Amino acid sequence: MASNITYHASPVTPAIRSSLRGQQGITIWLTGLSASGKSTIAVALEQALLRKPLGLNAYRLDGDNVRFGLNKDLGFSPKDREENIRRIAEVAKLFADSCTIAITSFISPYRADRDLARKLHEAERPGGEPGVPFIEVWIDVPVEVAEQRDPKGLYKKAREGKIPEFTGISAPYEEPLKPEIHIHSDKTSVEDAVKIIVKYLEGKGYLS
Ligand code: PPS
Repeated sequence: MASNITYHASPVTPAIRSSLRGQQGITIWLTGLSASGKSTIAVALEQALLRKPLGLNAYRLDGDNVRFGLNKDLGFSPKDREENIRRIAEVAKLFADSCTIAITSFISPYRADRDLARKLHEAERPGGEPGVPFIEVWIDVPVEVAEQRDPKGLYKKAREGKIPEFTGISAPYEEPLKPEIHIHSDKTSVEDAVKIIVKYLEGKGYLS
């Protein structure tokens, strides 16, 4: 971190902002293999939250998309993935701080990186206010099923040795140990996955 920097506090505290906006910010962190259905579920969830009757502010950050811009300097080595997730976590937290529901869909294969994202969110905010709720959602699919789906032909290329360090084939995916939500995407429709997540959020009082 740079030296000689000072945090500039605002009179608009998270609680004041939230009460003025009528909405609380949270981060919904989808994790899972390539072709597990993360992006599809994230898109449907974003729509469900934005549309009436919920009509909430939500914004989706997606693996491939973010790698076209903010993270275009990063590859898929463990170090680059760590930096990818760190930046996404910081960005998601900023969205959530602005009272938006941030939905992230990144493979985020390393437990330590996901834990760091959680820690960053849950840390007490300046002024002693509680941190941002972080909901880890494991979009779980057997690698054989993901490989069979292979919508982008990436598993095939990885098997042919054309993509190094491909998650599930030649790079690890460390399964979440205690995700808030666990969805088996080979047995759950997209519609039901969205319902499960929304029900969880309602139960926690995050949507009111
Ligand atoms: S990570 O591991 O969280 O940093 O990855 P992420 O930013 O989510 O990017 C995953 C998408 O990148 C494409 N891709 C790869 N995935 C895994 N391993 C390797 N080596 C790789 N190379 C390219 C792929 O399209 C991933 O998208 P999804 O939507 O997960 O299939």
